[in-house]
This record gives sequence, C-alpha cells and structure tokens, in this order.
Amino acid sequence: MASTQVAIIGAGPAGLLLAHLLHAEGISCVILEARSRDYVEARIRAGVLEQTTVDLVRRIGVAEGLDREGLVHDGFMLAIDGEPLRIDLTAAGGNVTVYGQTELTRDLIASARARGIDLHFDIDAVALHDIESAAPKVTFTQAGVARELDCAFIAGCDGFHGVSRRSIPASAMQLYERVYPFGWLGLLADVPPAAHELIYASHANGFALASMRSLTRSRYYIQVPAGEVVENWSDARFWDEAEIRLGVPVTRGQSLEKSIAPLRSFVAEPLRHGRLFLAGDAAHIVPPTGAKGLNLAAADVTYLAEALTGYFKRGDEAALTSYSAKALTRIWNSVRFSWWFTTLTHDFPGADPFDARIRRSDLAYLRGSKRAQVALAENYIGLPI
Ligand code: APR
Ligand code: PHB
Repeated sequence: MASTQVAIIGAGPAGLLLAHLLHAEGISCVILEARSRDYVEARIRAGVLEQTTVDLVRRIGVAEGLDREGLVHDGFMLAIDGEPLRIDLTAAGGNVTVYGQTELTRDLIASARARGIDLHFDIDAVALHDIESAAPKVTFTQAGVARELDCAFIAGCDGFHGVSRRSIPASAMQLYERVYPFGWLGLLADVPPAAHELIYASHANGFALASMRSLTRSRYYIQVPAGEVVENWSDARFWDEAEIRLGVPVTRGQSLEKSIAPLRSFVAEPLRHGRLFLAGDAAHIVPPTGAKGLNLAAADVTYLAEALTGYFKRGDEAALTSYSAKALTRIWNSVRFSWWFTTLTHDFPGADPFDARIRRSDLAYLRGSKRAQVALAENYIGLPI
C-alpha cells in the first residue's frame, strides 16, 4: 500500500499546477490521470491567461515557454453588427497573455517529470474511499494491476466528468446550472490571425470569435445551434460565416482541428467534503466567452495549496475550513461575468422579444459608456487572488 500526503485526481491545469505548488513546499503528492500523456497534451483548449495566472506560472518556475511565445494583449475588439468597439484593458489597469492551454499543459507535464513529481497516466477505475474519515484512500488499476493509495487529503482536479464530485453524497451538495441553447464550433488552422488582438463579434447571424495561438496559428469560433454536428460544416462554410460575423477579411486555411463544444454555466457547492477538496472544472464550468476556465482553476489551486501548506506546516486547519467559501467568492464573480458576456454577445434563438430588446440596449449602452467599457475590462483581466 503506497501513501502520500495529497492524492490529486486529474492532470489537467488544476492538478498539474497544484502538484507544482505542493512539491515546492515539500508536501508529497501523487497525480493520477485517466488518459495517456499524448491525449492530455493534444487537447485543444482556450488560451487567455489573466495576470494572476501568469504570475502563478512564473512563481512555480514554468514560464519559459510563456515568456518566449506568449502574446501580451492590452485590449480586444468587440464587433457589434460589424461596428468595431475596442475594449482597452489598460483602462482597468491590466492586460492578458495569449498562450494556449495545450502549450501550458505540455510545459507543466515536462516540468513535473523534470522535478520528479509523482505523475501517472493511463490510470483506470479510480475510486475514492473514506473521504469523511481522517484516513481516506484511492483505489485504481494501473496496467491492469489493482493498487491502493493512502493519503491525508484528496484533491479532485478531474474536471466536469470526473469521479471526485460524484463521490460526494448528493444530499451534501447544492448544484447550480444554466445550459445555453447553442454551442461553439471551433477551428484551428495554421494561418495568421485576423488582427493583432482578439475579436469578439455579436452579429444577427450569431456570435463569432477570432483568436490565436501565435502569429502563424489562429483559433476561430462561431456560435452554432445546440445539437449541431461538425459534419455539417466544411472549412469553406466555416470561413464564409466567420468572415460575415466578424466583419473583417480572414486568412483561410485547412483546419487542423474542428469541433463543437456545448456551453453551460455550472457550480457545485461546497468545494469540500471531509478530506476531499474540489478544484477547477470538477467544481465549476463557465462558457468560454470570458476565457475564465483555466484562470479559475489556477485561482482555486492557489487557495487550496495555501490551505494545505498551512495545515501540514503549521497545523493550521482554519484555511482548509475557509477554502470553499474563499474560492467560491472568486468563482461566482467569474461565473457571473462569463454568463453576462455570453448573454450580451450571443443570439438566443426564440428569445423573448423583451430580452432581445434588452440585449440590444445593453450593447448600445456599452458602446456609449467608457465606464461600462472599463467595468468589462476589469472583469476580463480578472480580480486579484
Ligand atoms: N480519474 C483520473 N483522471 C480523470 C478522471 C478520473 N476518473 N476523470 C477525468 N480525469 C482527468 C481528465 O482526463 C483530465 O485530464 O482529469 C483531468 C481534468 O482536466 P480538465 O478537464 O482540463 O480540468 P481542470 O484541470 O480543472 O482545468 C480546467 O481545462 O477543460 C478546461 O476549459 C477548462 O480551461 C479550463 C481548464
Ligand atoms: C481561445 O483562444 O481558444 C479563446 C480565447 C478567448 C476566449 C475563448 C477561447 O474567450
């Protein structure tokens, strides 16, 4: 029977960042990841980092790739029915860095290997046991061999579909959810970006986003109805529609990846049950409009690492007790912003005429109010941790 101080379920950004923070404090941890390393490193995900996330990556000493390839953006464009409105992030005292989550995950995995962090891929049948006791454990199979891991705490960093949240009795949780009647069809291509900053477009045909991974690789999204299938969208059809909604010419190219993601807002409360703590997508999901998912995961594990360090190094249980409430304050701020920015910029099929008119009024107010634009910028760059 192996043992560790903290068992981390999941090697996405939350699990990998948490492991680095604990390792730096000399707290033992083991990461158990269901998928292969290749699979985890190939996932295409959003890549806009708040300054607090950049600071965290730099603090754990994994910022070489970020510093080399990251693109610092002082603003983004909001195209409202083709009319551009630049949102100046420096007006709110900050900026964001565009650096793909795919690249960050690869950097974190390479760093974990180099530092000897106990990271295991291809782990099956993970199950959590005795999470309400002082001696929880994790059982799993590795290469077909049944194994057990004793631990003091379990960090559920296994995303929305993971086992951790489901290991908490439903009676002990309050779930909040909003499912949107549309998804995002995303396309990745080795073409120069449409502009030097991101373009969020609100158009009668629907929402579109022109983003990037570098100056030679672009990431585009267009809103599609819930239930749409990617087979209905040739590259040519995608590029035509993206150009209409964005209102600018785009450089076209062969898609390297094309997929549809559903949009939902979701929060599970509380983030602790006994010796199990939830962090990242295991605890919450936000529509990607506000680019908050990765940044929320980084904030959660910053709080959780502080709490676990206080416990193991000073016997302080207070921070463990307050982790959930503290993380949820920042989570709900980002959930609200992501819901608001999604509602503002997307076309809701069959929307109540009153709601549709309110949305038009909100867009007009935003265009006419510098203060409203600064408030948007303040939320986009993220709150301090
Ligand atoms: N056992 C072990 N690992 C699991 C299990 C399980 N039962 N279920 C899921 N996992 C793994 C997944 O394979 C994935 O690698 O947990 C990891 C969870 O990673 P993410 O889903 O990326 O979640 P998180 O680390 O919280 O990062 C949130 O990632 O999904 C994006 O938009 C999201 O940007 C946000 C960020
Ligand atoms: C992305 O580059 O994938 C991206 C950027 C900003 C968003 C969402 C996704 O709001």
